[in-house]
Amino acid sequence: MKGVIESSLGWRRICYQYAFRTCAKGQRSAGAGKFQSPDVLCIILRMQIPPALNLLAISGSLRANSTNTALLGAAALLAPEGVAITVFEGLGALPHFNPDHADTPSPEVAAFVQAAVDADGLVIACPEYARNIPGTFKNALDWLVGSTQFPDKPVMLFNASPRASDAQAALRLVLSTMSARIVDDACITLDLLGRPWNAAAIVLDSRLAEPVRKALATFCNAIQ
Ligand code: FNR
Repeated sequence: MKGVIESSLGWRRICYQYAFRTCAKGQRSAGAGKFQSPDVLCIILRMQIPPALNLLAISGSLRANSTNTALLGAAALLAPEGVAITVFEGLGALPHFNPDHADTPSPEVAAFVQAAVDADGLVIACPEYARNIPGTFKNALDWLVGSTQFPDKPVMLFNASPRASDAQAALRLVLSTMSARIVDDACITLDLLGRPWNAAAIVLDSRLAEPVRKALATFCNAIQ
């Protein structure tokens, strides 16, 4: 799927450990034809062993340099072992919600609803616009309201701005109305406001990366 950012740090660690061990045992040359590098082994292993949990991350911002989207990109890189986080990139392509089309959704809507339904949980990071959630994000949630498979969907919330308390309250109201299961202990607020961030910069800043890592672990433990 386009726009997939999966956690790979854990897999890379395992593969490098494997390569190191086989090298130490003098087996590297025997296996060289099969595994050119730990990276190749990494790809093969990831193809064969599915992740234990698949999470869908949705940013409420369409901005190219969005702090909320950067935060979700970092979450994908910091995901616990065996957890795959897919960052959804089609928010802006969803048509305006119309109940008349709920039973005959466009391919974009059908793919979005299916991805949300199939996910073991949602990771949401949404900015505040005019003391509420952005219309584009509410539009996406409206497409999910009719799904009989959405109720009890586990959700964690990342808030990238300490000022955005009204949007968080509104988001909680909408999600609880949709019967989502918000895992409160996994919901965190970080201060990314007013500065340019990307996923790598967040991962490299331990004051941001550690709370993200901890929140993801709490969420995954709660829904496993
Ligand atoms: C905002 N912002 C904002 N912030 C806030 O705390 N309360 C508010 O009511 C609003 N309203 C608002 C309206 C509009 C139209 C814009 C463009 C912005 C600021 C906004 O929430 C902040 O810049 C976020 O960091 C944007 O998130 P991304 O795009 O970086 O993910």
